[in-house]
Amino acid sequence: MAKKILVTGGTGYIGSHTVVELQESGYEVVIVDDLSNSSIDVLDNIAKISGTKPAFEQFNLADKEKTSDFFKRNQGIEAIIHFAAFKAVGESVQIPLNYYRNNLVSLMNLLDCQREFNVPNMVFSSSCTVYGQPEKLPVTEATPRKDAESPYGNTKRVSEDILQDSVKAYPELKAIALRYFNPIGAHPSALIGELPLGVPQNLVPFITQTAAGLRDELKVFGDDYNTPDGSAVRDYINVVDLAKAHVTAIARLLDGKNKANYEIFNLGTGDGLSVLEVVKGFERATGEKLNYKIVERRAGDVEQIWADTTYANEELGWKAEKGLDETLLSAWNWEKKVRGIE
Ligand code: UD1
Repeated sequence: MAKKILVTGGTGYIGSHTVVELQESGYEVVIVDDLSNSSIDVLDNIAKISGTKPAFEQFNLADKEKTSDFFKRNQGIEAIIHFAAFKAVGESVQIPLNYYRNNLVSLMNLLDCQREFNVPNMVFSSSCTVYGQPEKLPVTEATPRKDAESPYGNTKRVSEDILQDSVKAYPELKAIALRYFNPIGAHPSALIGELPLGVPQNLVPFITQTAAGLRDELKVFGDDYNTPDGSAVRDYINVVDLAKAHVTAIARLLDGKNKANYEIFNLGTGDGLSVLEVVKGFERATGEKLNYKIVERRAGDVEQIWADTTYANEELGWKAEKGLDETLLSAWNWEKKVRGIE
C-alpha cells in the first residue's frame, strides 16, 4: 500500500512541485493549505501531470482544533512535509505578529499532533536566510547561523530550534530541515509554477513579468557589491530539483537511514550567480530582450551566498541536475502560459 504523506502548503510554489514528485514516486499525498497564497486550480494541474488529484483540505494549521480534527480523520499518515508558512520578507517587518503566530503556532500544532497521532517524521522548509551574510563561502551546514534580518527570517531560525528541541525531548520524533537557497523555475509541463500575488519581490518572477509586459523594467538592486560584476550573488536552484530532494529526504526518514533524529541539509547548486548573470542568462535562454536598470541596493540584502552541497550530495544522494538556461526557460514558459502569450 502506498505510504501516505501530508504536504502542508501543497498548493504553493515549492509544495505543488513536491506533490507531483511524491506522487510520481508512488506516495499517496494529502494536502492541507489555507489557500491564502495559492489557488485551488493547482490541484487539477497537478492531476494533469501525475494522473492523480491529491486529497485536499482547506484550513489554517495555526487552528489547533481543526488540525487535531484533521489527524483524527486521517489515520495512517507516515510523514509530514511542512511548507505552509508566510514568506514575504518585507511584509513580515510590517506585521511581525502575524508572521510569528502563523509560522510558529502551525509548526507547534503539527508537532503536538505528531505525538498524539503517532506521525513520527517531518521534513521542514527552512532557508539559507538563517546564515545571513556568512564570513566564509560557500556555506556548509556547520556554518554558524546569524541573527535574522527580518521577522520572516527569524521564524525560520526559531522553527529550526523548535524542531531540534522537540526531537531531543521526544525521541519518537525525527526531523530533517532543508535549507533552500533561491528556488526558481517551473515544471517543464508549464502546468504549475510560481504565481506571486501583486508585485513580485523575488528576482525571477520580476524578470518574467517584465518580459511579459506586466512591468516596465527590472530594477537591479546594486552594482557596487564586492562581486565580479558588482551585482549580488545567489545560488539559484531549480524547483523540480528541489522538489526531488524532498522525496529523497522522506525516503531517508521512512527507511530509517537518518544518522540523527534531527538533520540539516543545504539545498542549492553549489554555484553562485550574480543578478546580471541571471539577466543575461534569461535573454540567452529565451531570446527575449529584458529592460533593466541599475538602482540602489535593497535594504536587508546580503552581498553574496552560495551553498556547499557536499553533504546533500553524499548523504542524501541528491544533486541539482538542471542548468540555468533550462530553468529560466521553464520560468518563461510558465509565465507565457499564465498570461496567454503565444
Ligand atoms: C529572499 C529571502 C530568503 C527567502 C527568499 C524567498 C532574505 C535575505 N532572503 O531571498 O530568505 O527564502 O527570498 O523568496 O530574506 N533582485 C533585484 N531586483 C528585483 C528582485 C531581486 O535585483 O526586482 C536581486 C536581489 O537584490 C538579490 C537577488 O536579486 O540580490 C535575489 O533576490 P530575491 O529573489 O528577492 O531572493 P533573496 O532576497 O535572495
